[in-house]
Amino acid sequence: MRVQVGEKVLEVVRGDITEQEADAIVNAANNHLWMGGGVAGAIKRKGGEEIEKEAVSKGPIPVGEAVVTSAGRLRAKYVIHAAGMGQDLRTDEDKIRDATENALKRAEELKLESVAFPAIGTGVGGFPADMCAEVMIGTALDFLKEAENPKLVRFVLFGEETYEAFRRKLEEVEGS
Ligand code: APR
Repeated sequence: MRVQVGEKVLEVVRGDITEQEADAIVNAANNHLWMGGGVAGAIKRKGGEEIEKEAVSKGPIPVGEAVVTSAGRLRAKYVIHAAGMGQDLRTDEDKIRDATENALKRAEELKLESVAFPAIGTGVGGFPADMCAEVMIGTALDFLKEAENPKLVRFVLFGEETYEAFRRKLEEVEGS
């Protein structure tokens, strides 16, 4: 599903974020940037361990911040590591909002056309998918209205329930 926001586009798709052809994919990271399971594990497996090495060398960062690395063997040009949690691996609305906004800022600084996000905090973090959708889509919408780049923000959801939560939220945006 896709919604036009002025000259920008918001998309929600079901799939594997490591297969995306966006300029950057976002990693659901912790603030020390070591890459465990979930999205991080998939990025490390497919993109190469050098991504984790580069990420860790840029950390630790404050929770809610985001840093850029190369994307190894992935199709994307960059990985933007957005820290939705600290070493306790716990998250909340404010952390997810900050991590989303700071990842978008990195994309803007690099003048990227497109960036793909996972549902930050909804795996290891245990954060509810519907609340995550509300926070992340709301943050992206506000950002796209003001910023020059990115032109396209795509949310890539792995599970059916998470996908449905994001699709419903984007439908609300479309109807408003
Ligand atoms: N593509 C898209 N989404 C995925 C993929 C994938 N390949 N793999 C998992 N997901 C989904 C999960 O189902 C969940 O809905 O991404 C969402 C986020 O899950 P996590 O990756 O566990 O992220 P998070 O909850 O933010 O926890 C981050 O996990 O492994 C560690 O190093 C990572 O410490 C960090 C923490």
